[in-house]
Amino acid sequence: MRERKEKAESAAAGASRRSIGVGVIGLGTVGASTVRVLLEHQLEINRRLGCKLELRALCSRRIEQLDLSWLRRRLKDVKITPDWRAVAGDPGVDVVVELVGNLDTARAIAMAALTGGKHLVTANKQLVAEHGLELVEQSRRAAAGLGIEACVAGGTPVLHAIREGLAGEHFTAVLGILNGTTNYILTEMEERGCSFAQALSEAQERGYAEPDPTADVEGHDARYKIAILAMLCFGAAVPVAEVPAEGIRAIDPVDFAYAHRLNRTIRLIAAAERAKGGRLRVSVRPMMIPRSGLLAGVRGAINGVLLVGDKGGNTMITGRGAGGEPTAVAVLSDVIEIARDILSGAAGATPLGYTAWHAARLARLGDHVAPFYLRLVVRDRPGIIARVSGILARHRINIDAVLQEPGQPKHALPFVLTLESARQEQVTRAVREIARLGVMAQPPLVMPFFE
Ligand SMILES: NC(=O)c1ccc[n+]([C@@H]2O[C@H](COP(=O)([O-])OP(=O)(O)OC[C@H]3O[C@@H](n4cnc5c(N)ncnc54)[C@H](OP(=O)(O)O)[C@@H]3O)[C@@H](O)[C@H]2O)c1
Repeated sequence: MRERKEKAESAAAGASRRSIGVGVIGLGTVGASTVRVLLEHQLEINRRLGCKLELRALCSRRIEQLDLSWLRRRLKDVKITPDWRAVAGDPGVDVVVELVGNLDTARAIAMAALTGGKHLVTANKQLVAEHGLELVEQSRRAAAGLGIEACVAGGTPVLHAIREGLAGEHFTAVLGILNGTTNYILTEMEERGCSFAQALSEAQERGYAEPDPTADVEGHDARYKIAILAMLCFGAAVPVAEVPAEGIRAIDPVDFAYAHRLNRTIRLIAAAERAKGGRLRVSVRPMMIPRSGLLAGVRGAINGVLLVGDKGGNTMITGRGAGGEPTAVAVLSDVIEIARDILSGAAGATPLGYTAWHAARLARLGDHVAPFYLRLVVRDRPGIIARVSGILARHRINIDAVLQEPGQPKHALPFVLTLESARQEQVTRAVREIARLGVMAQPPLVMPFFE
């Protein structure tokens, strides 16, 4: 009875509101775009909401170095401060938008906002992947909204699709090309035959890759994102540190030549799927994918997520995964959703779409059974194939085909074996032995075929 009365009072209070206050912390690529897009789309957003979404506070560490005169002209009463606490604690701010990047600061801002009864929107994938349940718990306790759409695949509405449009689905798998930098590099290597180093340097020149590209090219960035996708698809918290991640540095243009002969291409695939015994298999690694498949169509600095449902089958969402404006749209969409919930008195009811969460139990990647691509680069001499196939046979792995591109140098001769379905662990052990043969000009490269 009391609860019903409180709800009715909160809905009545929401319905009578004429504006909702927003505070943005962090005015870098995404934060500055969020402010600009909000002002540019202000009228339309107000019309959608039936009330004004009002920028009330802005914060950035070196705020004095930013030229905000244009903003001060438009927003006379906006608070501008280098101190995030002055935004998180501002009574005029209903929704705190956290866009600072650094994990510890982002976490401190998020907890201060939620414990102080503010609603929170964040674009910080590491924060959500590593502390997602803590945020959910806190937002439920405070009946505060929690928006995380911008954390995965930037401007695409993939998390909303999982939580709302497909809430009736039982997901069996979610697969994504979640890192625009690596996808740009791989598609440049595929289309122009350039090396990894050359494609990376061009990506850096165009601003697609950071000066230190490790997080992207080693798969760490995609690992946070697949952990979040798995969280929302399966209602399970994935221990990010336990997700195996393998990058793309070892891929060579010759691998695309072989991939095409097999009617395949190569993409960095982040995958989470249901495995035996209620476990989840989660990984980030380059895979040989069908050239005619949905994921192969994701080219350049674009992201794509394939949601596989028990009843609806495949749903593919693609779009710009990064960049100030696309990400700002995702941030603002979360703010608008929370504002609607404030107006209807429903904020914080089921943060991130589940009322009960459990800890995910991860399946061992070594138990994964798939056909494999094995590329060896050898100093050519007679009998190598016999020795390699002898090792594979001892590990009970059948060879499906042997491929060799013509015209390759004898001192570093690449050739490929495609292997019939085998456990990943078997293949890893065999390849470790092959690598010790003493004829390798480069370490062997192994990739699963994605079926
Ligand atoms: N960039 C993208 O395309 C993209 C896409 C999706 C998600 N995201 C996520 O969005 C978030 C922001 O990314 P970004 O690219 O906009 O980063 P950014 O360009 O580095 O901007 C970060 C901003 O936060 C400010 N800041 C840092 N620490 C602060 C503190 N303690 N107090 C107040 N302000 C502080 C910085 O100020 P100073 O310049 O003075 O240090 C800067 O203005 C990150 O979590 C990122 O992962 C980014």
